[in-house]
Amino acid sequence: MLARLDELYEVKMWDEEDTPVPREVLEKEIVDIDGLYCLLTENVDAELLSRAKKLKVISNMAVGFNNIDVEAATNKGVMVTNTPGVLTETTADLTFALLMATARRIVESSEYLKEGKWKTWSPMQLTGQDIYGATVGIIGLGRIGEAFAKRAKGFDMNILYHNRSRKSEVEQELGITYVEKETLLQKSDYVVVLTPYSLETKDLIDQHELALMKETAVLINTSRGGIVNETALYHALKEGQIWAAGLDVFEEEPISLNHRLLSLPNVTVLPHIGSASKKTRIKMAIMAADHLSQALQGERPTHLINE
Ligand code: DGY
Repeated sequence: MLARLDELYEVKMWDEEDTPVPREVLEKEIVDIDGLYCLLTENVDAELLSRAKKLKVISNMAVGFNNIDVEAATNKGVMVTNTPGVLTETTADLTFALLMATARRIVESSEYLKEGKWKTWSPMQLTGQDIYGATVGIIGLGRIGEAFAKRAKGFDMNILYHNRSRKSEVEQELGITYVEKETLLQKSDYVVVLTPYSLETKDLIDQHELALMKETAVLINTSRGGIVNETALYHALKEGQIWAAGLDVFEEEPISLNHRLLSLPNVTVLPHIGSASKKTRIKMAIMAADHLSQALQGERPTHLINE
């Protein structure tokens, strides 16, 4: 990927994999660059953008772009691109895997064995929730939501969804049902959050929403932290208002090891690995490099967010 860009441009790269680009480095480098290739760890806000003198394009190696102030970029005439499509199936796989792991207490059971707690087989030991035949409610029926619904169908789940707009064709094709958010929360055994993060979806699942859910319900979030209010979620899990949660994303990433959510046995956590298959991450990296190149060559990038 770097070789592709290196042939055409002078590339300055932050290559410490374990730390995001420090803010002061971004602030210094943004001034004179034509294109920024970034990850969701880079906060490209209005203040950072105000320093840029020549910037033409920001290519985000992610489908989500809540790390970028798109309005500020648009006002400055800077193109913003993302990487939709290539990560859909991989992220749907992980979402379903997290649902299964949380429902059947896979991580907890593995730790139970390794910690020497397994003394005998007993009837109710480490029992979880059934997946087959249960009702799942999908919040956000975009590409990943649809791909997730196909997997749920294979498990004979009853599928409800809530989305900004109804999708009649998908409803017919997959046999899924549109419902209001409140109904979805009340009826679902699994609530799966797959809507993008925005000002409208911040705290979409808060105290009120958690209170509507079943005591046996499982909440899964592989979209963005901040859509589910973590304080409200902690209390709902602690007080048995809902049964468990599976989280791949957090309000602050990496989540602090002292965070209260991590102290609960009924939370399964992952370090934001929704799209992390080798093939998919390579496709995302190449797509983001192509977008950068297209824009710098004066072409319209294939996936331009700010038309
Ligand atoms: C995205 O692309 O937005 C994911 O969160 C990371 O792949």
